[in-house]
Amino acid sequence: MGRDDDVAAWAAHDLGRVIVSADEVAARVRELGREITRDYEASPPLLVCVLKGAINFMSDLMRAIELPVEVDFMAVSSYGAATKTSGVVRIVKDLDVDLADRDVLIVEDVVDSGLTLNYLRQYLGARSPRSLEVCALLLKQGEQRVEQDLKYVGFSIPSDFVVGYGLDVNERYRNLDAIYTFVGEV
Ligand code: IMP
Ligand code: MG
Repeated sequence: MGRDDDVAAWAAHDLGRVIVSADEVAARVRELGREITRDYEASPPLLVCVLKGAINFMSDLMRAIELPVEVDFMAVSSYGAATKTSGVVRIVKDLDVDLADRDVLIVEDVVDSGLTLNYLRQYLGARSPRSLEVCALLLKQGEQRVEQDLKYVGFSIPSDFVVGYGLDVNERYRNLDAIYTFVGEV
């Protein structure tokens, strides 16, 4: 356990064990930033943050990349208030910039069934980017219903529902620095 992993009293009731500590997240994000810097040196990417879950990851990752990246945001909704995917993806906020001939890197919080990402890839792929890749902080082991081709993955984790570092349940717990299992009532 590193800094800020001791669960604050206001959250302790609903949280189980630490899945990824704040220090582990920080170290891995620095590594990913180095890899992306190296891989995209010739052509700095457009980072597309998938709101809201990827906000913490995006914020740290973009500062770990030593290139003139651009950033944009989109919001999708696939879960409603429950902890299992409905399989139905809705675009809540679309991008502001044109993707034609851009090297686009989707920044996602977690790939669970993969349905959200599948939908996003098709949706964004139709706009003629030069390349379209994915950087996912978390990949849930054995849960993908469709084969996923992820260029960067932070951590492979068990299939428990997790919160913290951007990930929520009913919009709460995004403001924790570590990632924990959620053991409360939904
Ligand atoms: P998928 O479509 O099943 O891959 O689900 C992906 C989306 O569901 C992510 O972008 C998250 O917003 C949300 N999600 C999936 N698993 C979790 C979790 O354990 N905690 C919080 N959100 C999750
Ligand atoms: Mg979410």
